[in-house]
Amino acid sequence: MAAATTKLLLSDLASTVESVTSNYIRPISDRPNLTEVQISDGSIPLIDLQVLDGPRRLDLIKQIGQACHHDGFFQVKNHGIPETIINNMLSIAGAFFKLPECERLKSYSDDPSKSKRLSTSFNVNTKKVSNWRDYLRLHCYPLQDCMHEWPSNPPFFEVVAEYCTSVRGLVLKLLEAISESMGLQRDYIDKALGKHGQHMALNYRPPCPQPDLTYGLPGHTDPNLITVLLQDDVPRLQVLRTGKWLPVSPIPNTFIVNIGDQMQVLSNDLYKSVLHRALVNCDKERISIPTFYCPFT
Ligand code: OGA
Ligand code: NI
Repeated sequence: MAAATTKLLLSDLASTVESVTSNYIRPISDRPNLTEVQISDGSIPLIDLQVLDGPRRLDLIKQIGQACHHDGFFQVKNHGIPETIINNMLSIAGAFFKLPECERLKSYSDDPSKSKRLSTSFNVNTKKVSNWRDYLRLHCYPLQDCMHEWPSNPPFFEVVAEYCTSVRGLVLKLLEAISESMGLQRDYIDKALGKHGQHMALNYRPPCPQPDLTYGLPGHTDPNLITVLLQDDVPRLQVLRTGKWLPVSPIPNTFIVNIGDQMQVLSNDLYKSVLHRALVNCDKERISIPTFYCPFT
């Protein structure tokens, strides 16, 4: 037991414990409290981007504007990113977290200023209670400035570069639509950003023996402009809607898009950066891959 608690990464601790160690246990007032979860047949809007470049563009832009205003979250299908690019990204993320501990630890750092870092929880230096997650943070734009930092085992370069380029293309389309939905010129947000930045997290959550005591990530809003989340087929993301937590069920080949704090400010509070959280499962691991788009810093 003593040896287990010295593990740097949750992935290497989780399989050795039968109950959640004390540093992951939330105070009673701050637990997932599953009875508060709205079991609703509603969901966040699912928007079909197929018609974005057709005669129905204006209808679609209205739908996007309403989703940004009412929900702060929506899912997109027919987004133009091929299934193989999505599956390859999920597979390589899975392969990374399956590497032997000594291989993964080559990327480990608990210094949040590092542009590439494998770490655990959120910020192990400042937070008292840990989150049930390991994550690899990467910078992804401009590609030629960051690719050399990415892991070479498994070989990230091709698969992840393709994924990042595709997601950036999707974000740029969404930013145009969101600009238009506010009655602004198509390139308004693009210009307002100045130089663009794109970061990514590969989140890995091993099965958890007591999922009601801890979080994969507690309720938070995203500080950046806009986030495009890819999740595997294991549910556990929840979005706050009218005071209750609404589960977002995975739909294959869709992305979840959410408004971040910077977009809320840029839109004069018209568009909402909404609280969301990730729970954990007792029997299944879960991978989620958010892309955070923001001004370059
Ligand atoms: C995030 C986030 C959700 C998830 O990383 O900001 O909200 O399901 N992730 O991992
Ligand atoms: Ni988030």
